Amino acid sequence: MTEILASIWANKVVRHTGDDEISGSSQHKWNSTDYQDSISFSKLDIITPSQKLLARQLTFEIVPGKSLLVTGPNGSGKSSVFRVLRGLWPVVSGSLTKPSQHIDEEAGSGCGIFYVPQRPYTCLGTLRDQIIYPLSREEAELRALKLHGKGEKLVDTTNILDSYLKTILESVRLSYLLEREEVGWDANLNWEDILSLGEQQRLGMARLFFHKPKFGILDECTNATSVDVEEQLYRLAKDMGITFVTSSQRPALIPFHSLELRLIDGEGNWELRTISS
Ligand SMILES: Nc1ncnc2c1ncn2[C@@H]1O[C@H](COP(=O)(O)OP(=O)(O)O)[C@@H](O)[C@H]1O
Ligand SMILES: [Mg+2]
Repeated sequence: MTEILASIWANKVVRHTGDDEISGSSQHKWNSTDYQDSISFSKLDIITPSQKLLARQLTFEIVPGKSLLVTGPNGSGKSSVFRVLRGLWPVVSGSLTKPSQHIDEEAGSGCGIFYVPQRPYTCLGTLRDQIIYPLSREEAELRALKLHGKGEKLVDTTNILDSYLKTILESVRLSYLLEREEVGWDANLNWEDILSLGEQQRLGMARLFFHKPKFGILDECTNATSVDVEEQLYRLAKDMGITFVTSSQRPALIPFHSLELRLIDGEGNWELRTISS
């Protein structure tokens, strides 16, 4: 068994394109007949590269509007479930289905799945670049124009994008950064050094709001913000129609979810319960 697993691990190409990534069924050409709108784990074992079984035959389905909260002690495997979901770790046994990355601009929705880690990756560039990452400015302007520029006669794509981004910064309570003399929209700064972890996490949520995915994978990504800010961020994401898969230890987030997956011991055992509203 161990040898088989080792060879599966060795032969898999494990893709890692940075801490934040848009993941989905790669090399999969979307068409309307095979479009999958939920995330589903079926008898899937979560196994580390050193072949420790963390969760045995994990089975659950996350449908739009029914968010999942993953709980369990440190080291029980919460982030590992997300690693498999993102394709960083291979599916060794069982199966995993997830939505395609098709962007439905008519419906105003972004990609299928967007991942926000505990410490968001800050890229080289401006504050604007931080929010639109991993899109380029041109791609982001085009998207903002399609989604928010309807009826604009004088097409000023940068203004359309920036006013949309400003609304997002306000909603994550970071718009004061724009007022700072050394910041603004166009300064290239070392964001990791000048922003606190709580600010970086709010920037990570700004990124989520910009991309507006069907599913947001949120791995303890608001745990350095105050509980009231965290609640506001979740309320906003919910109002935007984003379904979450959250890893968190904070009870305040329970009401934003419909299901709880508890990883009991990091030895394979888990349980699933419905959260009553
Ligand atoms: N790349 C890796 N190789 C081997 N073991 C790992 C690796 N990543 C995580 N683990 C182990 O898997 C277990 C679960 O880790 P993790 O999923 O990060 O826990 P949690 O997010 O619940 O705190 C831990 O024992 C951790 O040391
Ligand atoms: Mg973790």
